[in-house]
Amino acid sequence: MAKSPAFVCANCGASYTKWSGRCEACGEWNTIQEEAPLSAGPSGKSLGASRGASVVLTDLATEEAPPPRATSGIEELDRVLGGGLVPASAILVGGDPGIGKSTLLLQATAAFARRGLKCLYISGEEASAQVRMRAQRLGLAEAPVRLGAETNLRDILTTLETEKPQLAIIDSIQTMWADNVDSAPGSVTQVRAAAHELTQFAKRRNTAVILVGHVTKEGQIAGPRVVEHMVDTVLYFEGERGHQFRILRAVKNRFGPADEIGVFEMTGGGLQEVPNPSALFLSERGEPAPGSAVFAGIEGTRPVLTELQALVAPTPHSQPRRSVVGWDGGRLAMILAVLEARCGIPFAGLDVYLNVAGGMKIGEPAADLAVAAALLSAREDAALPADCVVFGEISLSGALRPVSQAENRLKEAAKLGFSTAIVPKSSKAGGTGMQLRPMADLAQVVGEIFGAG
Ligand code: TYD
Ligand code: MG
Repeated sequence: MAKSPAFVCANCGASYTKWSGRCEACGEWNTIQEEAPLSAGPSGKSLGASRGASVVLTDLATEEAPPPRATSGIEELDRVLGGGLVPASAILVGGDPGIGKSTLLLQATAAFARRGLKCLYISGEEASAQVRMRAQRLGLAEAPVRLGAETNLRDILTTLETEKPQLAIIDSIQTMWADNVDSAPGSVTQVRAAAHELTQFAKRRNTAVILVGHVTKEGQIAGPRVVEHMVDTVLYFEGERGHQFRILRAVKNRFGPADEIGVFEMTGGGLQEVPNPSALFLSERGEPAPGSAVFAGIEGTRPVLTELQALVAPTPHSQPRRSVVGWDGGRLAMILAVLEARCGIPFAGLDVYLNVAGGMKIGEPAADLAVAAALLSAREDAALPADCVVFGEISLSGALRPVSQAENRLKEAAKLGFSTAIVPKSSKAGGTGMQLRPMADLAQVVGEIFGAG
């Protein structure tokens, strides 16, 4: 029986038995590619039909020491890695082109190298001279980093085998080309094959390998998502155009907490660490204005304060706009529906814009109440007190649910000069010195804070 060909989406990795113009899983157009068939191997038999070696088995009680970690001294990076670089780990660093991945990794490599790690930086995108020029501009030229410009995976693996580095950077995985795979560089098959070879090398030779992956918009080039499942750690480097802030976010980490963030600022001299992101995210805040609410959030293991901004205006269109940056659009729709159904505050005929200041992205449901407060403040044209932070999850009934780590959130708020917090009913202030305004449900917030409803 002839095997049906496999097709796979270059954006999200969904597979199909036949080609189509649009991926049903992620909705992208022209991203579906044919995947090269697997070869039957040297024996020509399927894997199960010929005899392999026995796998070494252990039991669950076997004591395993925690992995020794190498730190770079760049604390924002070390924390996102879960406390440093784990030997033999495979790490993917994804992000939009031009966001600063190469800059970050060059600085990181130099930092690890200065601390005695044997580091190799392979660039498939830039000539060695270009990388050297950047290193000189960043004041890193003296760091003992070995540099290579190559895209041929076979040659790279041979070099890695002889050099035996402790850390190897591959910039980027989309430029790598395995000569035993019959498809173009950047295709899903090539990218997966290259990532597979390199992660295998990491385990076999005890080398930490960092793969750079560009987030791509066109379907011709596979995105980093197609290799996320192969690596131990997935980091995304994010930022808004026009903002100098960059956020390194762990979305998967076998060796540390996911959702951890590191905050950097892109300057003329490369990326600078931002040790106190709350102060940075709130720095653009002026006088208290309608539509603004400060959310006391938790990112990974660290509390971070961010400003939420809302604008509500009569719409000239039959269908009002719902525009949101840095927060989930579905969640915004839910909060608008709860405000309407449970508090009698309609948003029909009104355009709603919601923005998280500073280019942050918030995923916590704990921000619900801050979003609602920003929306109400905008709609009622009433500013919240300047010394006030907000957090709490909203349920469909309009009730407020307590959230985790309330004390940490309050402590950070107190540290930054805030003194009151609008919070769900059973939250405790502990020894934070913050004055709480406990609320049972959204209707109480509407009535007591905004005198509306
Ligand atoms: P780069 O690291 O090349 O991005 P990526 O590898 O993600 O594609 O960063 C490119 C941008 O960063 C470029 O627009 C210039 C800017 N940049 C600075 O602002 N300061 C610097 O010191 C460096 C090296 C780059
Ligand atoms: Mg680059």
